[in-house]
Amino acid sequence: MNPDSIHQTNSFYWSTKGNDFLGAIVLPHYGGSISEEKCQLFGDVSGKKMLEIGCGNGQSLQYQGERKASELWGIDISEKQLERAAQHLTSCGLSANLICSPMEEECGIPEDYFDFVYSIYAIGWTTDLEGTFRRIASYLKKDGVFIFSWSHPIHKCVVAENNLLVFNKCYFDESWYSVPLDLAGEGVLTLSDRKLSTYVNALAKAGFVIEQMIEQPDDEIMQSWNDNSGSFAKKAKMLPLTFVIKARKL
Ligand SMILES: C[S@@+](CC[C@H](N)C(=O)[O-])C[C@H]1O[C@@H](n2cnc3c(N)ncnc32)[C@H](O)[C@@H]1O
Repeated sequence: MNPDSIHQTNSFYWSTKGNDFLGAIVLPHYGGSISEEKCQLFGDVSGKKMLEIGCGNGQSLQYQGERKASELWGIDISEKQLERAAQHLTSCGLSANLICSPMEEECGIPEDYFDFVYSIYAIGWTTDLEGTFRRIASYLKKDGVFIFSWSHPIHKCVVAENNLLVFNKCYFDESWYSVPLDLAGEGVLTLSDRKLSTYVNALAKAGFVIEQMIEQPDDEIMQSWNDNSGSFAKKAKMLPLTFVIKARKL
């Protein structure tokens, strides 16, 4: 696993393809039919300083800005995503400090500063989970809150086949793998499916205590899925597609 080449590959993906399907994974949606409107993990963010890790095109920052957060900060590895974020936020009458950097690296974000650090479907791209969680802890004030969502590892192990759900991957396998892009054969996306315990233990090591974890999809959102959702909907009735963790810095 070479972090630099993973960053290069994934940054290319997000710069070229990344915007096509984000609707389901920008706040208030955490992904996998889990919604902030139902879960209320953030509560009142007015006057709070917020940092988003992997802020993409800025739509989740917009959500926080419209809820009167006092400062919006975002970090993303893709310059192109940050351009989209800056344009989007300006068009909404909002502004943010946007920083282009891998989340794993020192990039000038202030320490002991934020009330909330959050990330919607971006944390799992890190090549160094423990180091990234340690950095995030350093950005937060004492008692500050870290909320993130990511693909549930069990979802990655199971496929729907002929009306059955079939295990086709070992839950314990955290090796890095590449999936081809559908961009005229160009490039790949590289990732690792970590176990839930890997996330939990890395949070504990970085000085967080977990306050809440959500795996259960929202019935109302599930019911709104149409028949085209196919095997995805079938899986979602039987197992979690997404997990969300709310943790507090000790
Ligand atoms: C699913 S998108 C996040 C969408 C975003 N939460 C929103 O509301 O628009 C994942 C983002 O993570 C970024 N990313 C991937 N690997 C990264 C890394 N190592 N460091 C920082 N950002 C990364 C991608 O460029 C992409 O914009």
